[in-house]
Amino acid sequence: MSTIAPVLTAATVSTAAPQRKKVTITAFRQKKERGEPITMLTAYDYPTALAEDQAGIDSILVGDSLGMVVLGYQTTLPVTMDDMLHHSKAVARGAKSALLIGDMPFMSYQVSTEEAVRNAGRFLQEAGMDAVKLEGGRERVDAIRAIVSAGIPVMGHLGLTPQSINQLGGFRTQGKTATAAKRLIEDALLLEEAGCFSIVLESVPARLAQLISKKLSIPTIGIGAGVGCDGQVLVTHDLLGLFDRFTPKFVKKYADFHAEMQRAFGEYISDVQNRSFPALEHSVEMDEKEWQALQTEIG
Ligand code: KIV
Repeated sequence: MSTIAPVLTAATVSTAAPQRKKVTITAFRQKKERGEPITMLTAYDYPTALAEDQAGIDSILVGDSLGMVVLGYQTTLPVTMDDMLHHSKAVARGAKSALLIGDMPFMSYQVSTEEAVRNAGRFLQEAGMDAVKLEGGRERVDAIRAIVSAGIPVMGHLGLTPQSINQLGGFRTQGKTATAAKRLIEDALLLEEAGCFSIVLESVPARLAQLISKKLSIPTIGIGAGVGCDGQVLVTHDLLGLFDRFTPKFVKKYADFHAEMQRAFGEYISDVQNRSFPALEHSVEMDEKEWQALQTEIG
């Protein structure tokens, strides 16, 4: 990495976007009341968080999808608290206005409510997050109540809950039968009652997600759950075309960065190989007088 600091000109300083007001969980609720869709994306690093924040995103989720799209695991199960805190800190350094949500990884909230509260607290105390998210329905109510009563806002996550893929039998749509749909509605109401400020609905039939959104006074954030949710979230690496393995049906790809990265890396490799990089404009020269002095000095 270059250690030469860029020169800050008046132009670079004056084009900086004015700081937006910090988005809070109250703003989430108000958006639902006004019928304004809430926007959310994942981020795992400083530059992505900075760009999303400057683009005006309402909320950034440091998702445990980190495990798959950044760390290269097959599932989210191997992700640890240390992984999540490390990436959450980087995101917090980049985003100043968006509501920041840290995703509690597998086994950080399932063992006991004490551990759940302690781990949730670490996201706020150590990593600069504003809230946490955790997966599951009725079986998580005690943990949610305990975390909320410690003053930590909690976002729920229902439907396809990737930390339970071994139980769900893979990454599949949930709530497709009347019985499963009824259970999802009950779970959503229980999470609201337990104190969640919002709930992610992942890979749920659109009509069911809309029905749940109407029944709740807290906002739902959909991913693969249709347009009837109160907001939408996507995994940023899917949106940017950065994840090479697969693209879920519900993703809209807004860019093809994987191909663009390959193109740029290929161009760099051939520029270095044929010595067209670095060119003169990428090089620094010594003052001629100093150069001559050096020549004299070394003979
Ligand atoms: O981990 C994650 O990115 C998520 C989103 C898919 C909601 O949980």
